[in-house]
Amino acid sequence: MGLVNGGCPGKKAPVTAMWVSSRRNAAIPPGQNLFRNTSFPRRCNAVRILQPSGHSIILFTQERPSMSQKDLGFVRRSYFPTMIFQIDVPEPEDLNKKLLASIYAERERDKKGISRSNIPALGGWHSHNDLYKSKEYAELVGLIGQATSKMSEDLGYADSHTIRIGTMWSIINPPGCVNRAHVHPGCLWSGVYYIQAPENCGNIEFIEPRTVHLMNQAKFQPNKKRSRENWTKVRYTPVAGRMIIFPAWLYHAVDPNETKETGDAGNRVIISFNLNQVKKS
Ligand SMILES: [Fe+2]
Repeated sequence: MGLVNGGCPGKKAPVTAMWVSSRRNAAIPPGQNLFRNTSFPRRCNAVRILQPSGHSIILFTQERPSMSQKDLGFVRRSYFPTMIFQIDVPEPEDLNKKLLASIYAERERDKKGISRSNIPALGGWHSHNDLYKSKEYAELVGLIGQATSKMSEDLGYADSHTIRIGTMWSIINPPGCVNRAHVHPGCLWSGVYYIQAPENCGNIEFIEPRTVHLMNQAKFQPNKKRSRENWTKVRYTPVAGRMIIFPAWLYHAVDPNETKETGDAGNRVIISFNLNQVKKS
């Protein structure tokens, strides 16, 4: 009896080969080129047993690796992602200058504005919700349309439908202002476009939507950055000319504007919008 490391069994003497494992127990006809049979597992032991008659039996057994060697077929898959899109408008300076002038003119016309996630007592101003209807914002509306067409394509949305702006407003946050955590009910996606964003003017923070997941958190390696899949908060630093589009149901808030800039240069100025999917007319 000896270990056979390859080669074709059964030269002159007849050979019988047999699988012995929990899953296979099939006799293989004598003379078959066993070692080229691709149906065999890659790792196997072959034992040749010479019978007194001259007949050989080769027993193939699958390797039984030790626990440390076992291939557990470990696979991690991520489902139910929270998608956030980032769009950078090229050379946005002229556009932003025009938008800024229109927004300040609107604030002059409607000093009080409305109260939503802003805190008027701190100085945060929120315009009415129909800015998209005014021609001053047509260029931005066009850019949002371009971005949402790309999103629809990326997500595989129906060609029979398109994403449309339902509401659009501006927010001016002077130093010290914040926006409370909130969601945008009644729409599919929401977005923000940054017009003026001085340094430290307040990040937007998105909060883990699976609140059950926050109830009992795992311990992670200290001093090591967690993988993105294990984050419970995501912050984006505003950049003038950048658009962020996120699910309307995703809780978000804006950190205090702590810029050192003074006067109008210290304002964090944005336009925000809600989006819905509607049937093409
Ligand atoms: Fe918001």
